[in-house]
Amino acid sequence: MLIAGNWKMFKGPAETAQFCISLRERALPAGVEVVVCPPFVSLAVAVQLLAGTDIAVAAQNVHWEPEGAFTGEISAPMLRELGVYGAIVGHSERRQHFCETDDTVARRAHTALDAGLSVIACVGETEAERESGETEAVLRRQVSVLEWDEQLVVAYEPVWAIGTGKTATAELAQEAHALIKSLLPVPVLYGGSVKPENAGELLAQPDVDGALVGGASLDVESFVSICQAASR
Ligand code: PGA
Repeated sequence: MLIAGNWKMFKGPAETAQFCISLRERALPAGVEVVVCPPFVSLAVAVQLLAGTDIAVAAQNVHWEPEGAFTGEISAPMLRELGVYGAIVGHSERRQHFCETDDTVARRAHTALDAGLSVIACVGETEAERESGETEAVLRRQVSVLEWDEQLVVAYEPVWAIGTGKTATAELAQEAHALIKSLLPVPVLYGGSVKPENAGELLAQPDVDGALVGGASLDVESFVSICQAASR
């Protein structure tokens, strides 16, 4: 089981330090891989404060070139130099607000994996796509650009469930996860309004290998509760 906290654009270095110090003091369940994904400016402090623990630190995005004239971007070698373990790519907020496409997501994923980072690649349908019966086609298309790698994990995040409080039912998540795994045999995390109250049921599904948690990962107590639910 893998539980990753996607902090999005929350927590600068000072708040990150507070969170990491408090997380470090908590007993996390054995057998659950725990990852936090702070904003770029907070990665260094998180790496430093979580060194020597089993908690890994990942970035929320990564560019496909090692360096170059790409204002505002961060490369895989830069993340490696910081001691960062991996990166999320293709989050639906990147696709929706920053014009990321299947192609750019694939390039980011491949380069990061080549550079030795672990990758959490996000896929998921919008509400309109689900309502018009396109979920399977969308997932097939988004997954088809990714190549199997030992360090690759996919996160199924139905866009309509992100930050909305609407969670996919456990059955619906299971169905999507089974499809994704039939296309690409890698661990698949569920994401979209995962909370301590619903984590147990979602994580109990046979093809749900963990969770990518947004809002509920910002608070140490609720994040730790979700990690505990993953160990049951
Ligand atoms: P949420 O976000 O848990 O706040 O819905 C999940 C995500 O976007 O990764």
